[in-house]
Amino acid sequence: MDAMTLLHQRSSMGKLMGPAPGPEQMEAIYRAALRAPDHKELRPWRFIEFTGEGLVRLGELFAEAEYREDPAIEDSALDAVRKKPLRAPMVIAVIAKVTPDVPKVPKLEQVISAGCAAHGILLAAHAQGLGAMWRSGKYAFDPTVRKGLGLEEEDELIAFLYLGQLGGRHKPIAEHNIGDFVERWT
Ligand SMILES: Cc1cc2nc3c(=O)[nH]c(=O)nc-3n(C[C@H](O)[C@H](O)[C@H](O)COP(=O)(O)O)c2cc1C
Repeated sequence: MDAMTLLHQRSSMGKLMGPAPGPEQMEAIYRAALRAPDHKELRPWRFIEFTGEGLVRLGELFAEAEYREDPAIEDSALDAVRKKPLRAPMVIAVIAKVTPDVPKVPKLEQVISAGCAAHGILLAAHAQGLGAMWRSGKYAFDPTVRKGLGLEEEDELIAFLYLGQLGGRHKPIAEHNIGDFVERWT
């Protein structure tokens, strides 16, 4: 797939099946992530890759967060929460690893940089014929989940990227009118 086709056609896939991407595919994916624009080369990111039992542990963490918020929650609802990460054979948590007080590189820039790394992962997955979907949801902001994944105070959990083999067809890509978003000063 040529680069412009990839940029124009990347699309999310929520239906994902096993097997998880293999080591060579993952190396290509992380290399793409590490090419994100990065002011002062802070490398403001951390990736946690969950597969197999790791996905189960992530689900437990989500369930703990839910229970903390609502101790009266029904078992069936808690079970549904526990199963969320099992929607894919692999989940990557993308964490913006923020270095505070860096001159000229405020937290916002570091978080954007980590977001670009996440986009690199989506693009590299799509380029290799894999399916991927960026999800965040309330667990990305939950203190129990943040603590369980070892985030420091300044860090931000910006994505749970679900990855796997395509489990369906990509939806048609929405056509946008470029003129609605672009102003030109000439
Ligand atoms: C920061 C961020 C968080 C997102 N979180 C969710 C989510 O929790 N659940 C969801 O269904 N889609 C979420 N999305 C949107 C999907 O990843 C996807 O971009 C959207 O469905 C549009 O599909 P497309 O990427 O094929 O255009 C999120 C996107 C971003 C950028």
